[in-house]
Amino acid sequence: MEPVLNAHRLTKTYRTGSESVVVLQDVSFHVYPGESVAIIGASGSGKTTLLNLLAGLDLPDQGEIFLGPTQLNQLTENDRAYMRNRYIGLVYQDYQLLPHYTALENVLFPLEILRQTSGKKEKAQALLSKMGLSERYYHYPSMLSGGEQQRVAIARSIVTQPLILLADEPTGNLHREASDEITTLLFEMNKTLATPMVIVTHQMDLAMQCDRVYQMARGKLTPYIEKTLKPS
Ligand SMILES: Nc1ncnc2c1ncn2[C@@H]1O[C@H](COP(=O)(O)OP(=O)(O)O)[C@@H](O)[C@H]1O
Ligand SMILES: [Mg+2]
Repeated sequence: MEPVLNAHRLTKTYRTGSESVVVLQDVSFHVYPGESVAIIGASGSGKTTLLNLLAGLDLPDQGEIFLGPTQLNQLTENDRAYMRNRYIGLVYQDYQLLPHYTALENVLFPLEILRQTSGKKEKAQALLSKMGLSERYYHYPSMLSGGEQQRVAIARSIVTQPLILLADEPTGNLHREASDEITTLLFEMNKTLATPMVIVTHQMDLAMQCDRVYQMARGKLTPYIEKTLKPS
């Protein structure tokens, strides 16, 4: 099976003044159709950096990123933005909703950017309803709880029927109950739409529900193997 996303030997170094930090060192990563992949790792280990490269929000120093047959890191910034808007769903820890847009307008926004003309409103409303927000179409983000805002953000991320969903600590700002709801919704979407997803998370129970788990540490991405603690 061909991977949906194929990142090959990525290297990324940040330079600030005279300091330089190697954040990713020869990282390769594939995502196959329909699967869920978790990335765990300490704060500052480079998880967001990796996700930003996969989303085409930033460029690697070396290496290649293919979304289907298209090499993202060879495109112009405009073409990369188009690929991202059209084919990649993004979910952030802090929701990133447009504050002056209603829930419905936030979900409509990606379709407007793509100049979709027919059935937009119905599509957006149907997704919000699926997220349990049929009573919240005309609410602004400030009128919604964190969990509700994240559900709007998930609806927005999938309204374009992306090839892949990338979520950076999607439950990081939520209390237990809301966090469990978001986790359930993400896996439901993954199953029903067969959209593959990559989830960066600190929550081990969420990570362990994924088909594969990777760990970022010291610039490397390696398969995570659960260590069983032996009683001493
Ligand atoms: N734009 C940037 N410029 C300089 N250093 C950065 C930048 N973004 C991230 N870093 C550094 O790269 C490392 C990895 O950051 P990040 O990818 O955000 O880690 P994580 O998401 O795992 O917490 C950190 O040491 C961070 O300080
Ligand atoms: Mg991060």
